[in-house]
Amino acid sequence: MIIQTINLTKRYGKLVALDNLHLNIEEGECFGYIGPNGAGKTTTIRILATLLQPTWGEARVCGHVVGYESRKIRPLIGYVPDFFGAYEDMVVQEYLEFFAAAYNITGRKRDQIVGDVLELTDLSYKRDALVDSLSRGMKQRLSIARVLLHDPKVLFLDEPASGLDPRARIEIRALLKELHRMGKTILISSHILPELADLCTSIGIIERGEMRFKGSVTEALRRARVGSVVHVKTPDDLERARQAIINLPGVQTAEVRDSMVVASLESDTGDFSFIAQAMLAQSLRIHEIKQEEINLETAFMRLTQGIVQ
Ligand SMILES: Nc1ncnc2c1ncn2[C@@H]1O[C@H](COP(=O)(O)OP(=O)(O)OP(=O)(O)O)[C@@H](O)[C@H]1O
Ligand SMILES: [Mg+2]
Repeated sequence: MIIQTINLTKRYGKLVALDNLHLNIEEGECFGYIGPNGAGKTTTIRILATLLQPTWGEARVCGHVVGYESRKIRPLIGYVPDFFGAYEDMVVQEYLEFFAAAYNITGRKRDQIVGDVLELTDLSYKRDALVDSLSRGMKQRLSIARVLLHDPKVLFLDEPASGLDPRARIEIRALLKELHRMGKTILISSHILPELADLCTSIGIIERGEMRFKGSVTEALRRARVGSVVHVKTPDDLERARQAIINLPGVQTAEVRDSMVVASLESDTGDFSFIAQAMLAQSLRIHEIKQEEINLETAFMRLTQGIVQ
């Protein structure tokens, strides 16, 4: 286990920001840490990045305990915070050289590494631009470039895509996929699941300091999707088709909408042959049977709400 928290608790005065949190992340995972505003994501990440002390419980990174062994942890991790500071009069290359020096990377090695991270984050063409003149998406990539200088094993990214336009989001996601492919263990936070769905190997959903769900994206969606909705198209009489479908076992409702029959099913089997059979038995032709596309955003809302109740 490369990241492990045991009963991790953080209080700010009376406010319990993290409540006995258990988090396990295996080496090589890309873990999506999801939760609404104020859930405790930043607090967890700052503890793991050794910037904040837990009130109670323990956090371990690469086997070292945060607090006692923070100095052993720091060279192994890279932390991209949810804000970007101001760097007046500094150009991109100087910015990276400055941080490389902080990691004791100097001379030819420094030039080589700065060149490499600029290339990886697609910022080579901006090496002479003022940092403050970069767009938000570029600043975000520069933040990532900065934490790659010392080639850490683990990356913590706190909402790296927030405030970015769709294209910049896609670029960040592609960059993170590449880093994951290179073998880095990644913990990335977001308040929306869809954004992470195709990137993460597993996710955790946190709400008011407590972990509500841990598992794969598929499992999260499976739980969120209570039953499923099927669209059936036929050139024949729609009302007759509706009648044929509504009385089948496992069908909750069936109605005619937009020139098709829309049926909701109790479970999410993915097998609709029983609907096809019932239609054929009534000599109803079938032009299409398909499952309604699930909106990830809605699924996530349903998932958190369902678990809270
Ligand atoms: N320095 C602080 N002093 C007092 N309370 C704090 C402090 N930092 C965070 N909190 C509180 O702890 C709780 C968790 O905050 P945290 O920043 O970890 O949430 P988050 O999941 O990162 O939220 P967001 O999505 O808004 O970034 C919130 O109720 C917040 O108000
Ligand atoms: Mg936060």
